[in-house]
Amino acid sequence: MVDPLSGGPGGVPEPLARQADPHLVELPAVPTDDPRWILVEEGFTLAREHEVESLFAIGNGYAGTRGSLAEGSALSTPATFVAGVFDSDGSSLPGLVSTADWTRLSTSIDGQPLRLDRGRNLEHRRILDMRQGIFWREWQHQDEAGRITRVRVLRLASLADRHLLLQSATITPENFSGRIFVDATLTGPVVQVTGSGTTVAMAVARRVMNPTGRWTPSTELIQGRQGLELRLGETYRLDRVVALHTSRDTADPREMAHRHVERAIDNVAGIIGDHRDAWLARWQASDLRIEGDPATQRALRFAIYHLLSAVNPQDDRVSIGARGLSGSAYKGHVFWDTDIFMLPFFILTYPEAARALVMYRYHALAAARAKAARLGYRGAFYAWESADSGDDVTPPFVVAPDGQVVRLLTGEQQLHISADVAFGVWNYWRATGDDRFLVEAGAEILIETARFWASRAERGDDGRYHIRGVIGPDEYHETVDDNAYTNGMAQWNLEVAAEIANLVADRWPEPWQALSRRLGIEPDEPRQWQQVARDLYTGFDERTRLFEQFRGYFGLEEIDLAAFVPRTAPMDVLLGRERIQRSKIIKQPDVVMLVYLLWERMAPEVRKANFEYYEPRCGHGSSLSPAIHALVAARLGDTALAERYFRQAAEIDLADSMGNAASGIHAAALGGLWQAAVFGFAGLRFCEEKPEHHANLPPSWHSLSMRFQWRGQWHELTLPEGAERKKAEEDS
Ligand code: BGC
Repeated sequence: MVDPLSGGPGGVPEPLARQADPHLVELPAVPTDDPRWILVEEGFTLAREHEVESLFAIGNGYAGTRGSLAEGSALSTPATFVAGVFDSDGSSLPGLVSTADWTRLSTSIDGQPLRLDRGRNLEHRRILDMRQGIFWREWQHQDEAGRITRVRVLRLASLADRHLLLQSATITPENFSGRIFVDATLTGPVVQVTGSGTTVAMAVARRVMNPTGRWTPSTELIQGRQGLELRLGETYRLDRVVALHTSRDTADPREMAHRHVERAIDNVAGIIGDHRDAWLARWQASDLRIEGDPATQRALRFAIYHLLSAVNPQDDRVSIGARGLSGSAYKGHVFWDTDIFMLPFFILTYPEAARALVMYRYHALAAARAKAARLGYRGAFYAWESADSGDDVTPPFVVAPDGQVVRLLTGEQQLHISADVAFGVWNYWRATGDDRFLVEAGAEILIETARFWASRAERGDDGRYHIRGVIGPDEYHETVDDNAYTNGMAQWNLEVAAEIANLVADRWPEPWQALSRRLGIEPDEPRQWQQVARDLYTGFDERTRLFEQFRGYFGLEEIDLAAFVPRTAPMDVLLGRERIQRSKIIKQPDVVMLVYLLWERMAPEVRKANFEYYEPRCGHGSSLSPAIHALVAARLGDTALAERYFRQAAEIDLADSMGNAASGIHAAALGGLWQAAVFGFAGLRFCEEKPEHHANLPPSWHSLSMRFQWRGQWHELTLPEGAERKKAEEDS
């Protein structure tokens, strides 16, 4: 046997390049290659960089890191956000804090920085591996002097241990030997203290594998910066593990992070293995398989991947912001997006995570009560936008696209949020049967929101109750009276609160006594809620079967949206704020949203009439809009229209069709896409307290299969079923 280190046969040392086995030093994992599980960005288009950073973000619900280039580019904005850690500069509203950039890795060869915008990129690819929750990069670069270097990187936010972030990179000079300088220091402070006193601490550990596959005890590189003499074909690998802790979860985050990372750095393979297992287990529960349409399959997995990346079942004091942890739009604030658009996915496939989300609303009750009281009402008026405390953090002003500073009324007028929160809570309880949650938290939310409606609705001369001065989901029309969605959902909220109060009083008399004492519930109160619900004006016209979106809506100017096709800007920009307010054009489903949420309460002709009336008047100025149209169209049996809207919804992030994916993925649109597939095309519903389905699959979907949990039991849904399936197989 020849000892490779003492030379080849005859004792002549072989050139070092051949001595080092090129396969010895590799990244510690391999990417998934099935195109239905990956998103690939080939090449490099500087103008798209922010969008790629959002789409390729990694996250585990505790922290999220944008898919930025490790060495940076003219447009890179690397950011890592930590759920629940907000800061404001004193004058402005709290926004998610961005930590030090732990992914930074810059390399130079004989003093020349290795960058995408210099020399030639012979190969450059980023892969979002949704199956394993890993971001990959493969780069072969030729510099001005003709030197070719290959860089491979993987990056992940551990789903098995949410405090760990990991990056591993290999570097190989492919046609030269030379001096390579590597800088893997973090940019930014490793310990930050927010204005409200939250400490965020990062600790980093690095290790280096030399071309013989041994860990080198180089303290220099371990500290972050080092020059390496690399010979042709040799590969070095740098592993970097970051532990992230905050004073939200431990008393001494700095110490905790240090101890954590010291243990972790020697277990990189274990961390990756556990992370991958955690993702595979999540996919077991949450995957939605579509045969026959790979693009749709990938779009749905993209939606599921980002929803899962944004949620943390271990922390019920945080929720999911409008852009998850993938970007800074809306400052990380939480809207009805979570309760209505994202929550159903979690309820059915990840109930522990759903519980954390509804408990976030429970912890926010005090702030919601204070908001109601401040405005002179009883009960709970939830924040339109909230951050960590549940206080309303809606900005009072915005800058309109034409540069005008406009007063933003959504915080005061978008009352429907209270019913949306209640709806989410009830949905969670109904699907999980989590009675403990109902008794300890859910009932209180339902009751306090009902109380808000009972005090906010005013009795008019017509003897009916009215809710005046609101904004419905359609934000193009402000300060309107009797918005159908708001009133419809308030009515639902009042009725359900009364039912739940009676149920809890009946089934759990002792906790009920305690709750009604604590909240001062009068014995007659549930009956009063029922009465307000009964007499609440709904805007429904028996003759036409239409709900008027708000008082006076039917008298507004009719504008034909078809005349604006193809359109490059939202309708409010094209027409201006004033004109749009005087028109029937709406931003997003409002009555149609009500039809969807209260489906079981609406007669089939009512669902159809309202969809047919409002759908052509919707400008889809919100990313929340197309998926709901897809869902309702699918339920109504218009599969072609549903498919068109479904594609439109999928393209919001994947094709950046609204032009704003740069500041984060659209989490509500992704939740909506999942709902359109499950509740729309698959037609899953829960009538008579049990699951049933009325499928209307698009012709290209040969089959759809998924698992979901209902009252603690897993169910399999495979469509089409039995005979229908056989026929579809024969036909295809
Ligand atoms: C939509 C709201 C949504 C918010 C955050 C707005 O443009 O109109 O319905 O909650 O964005 O996604």
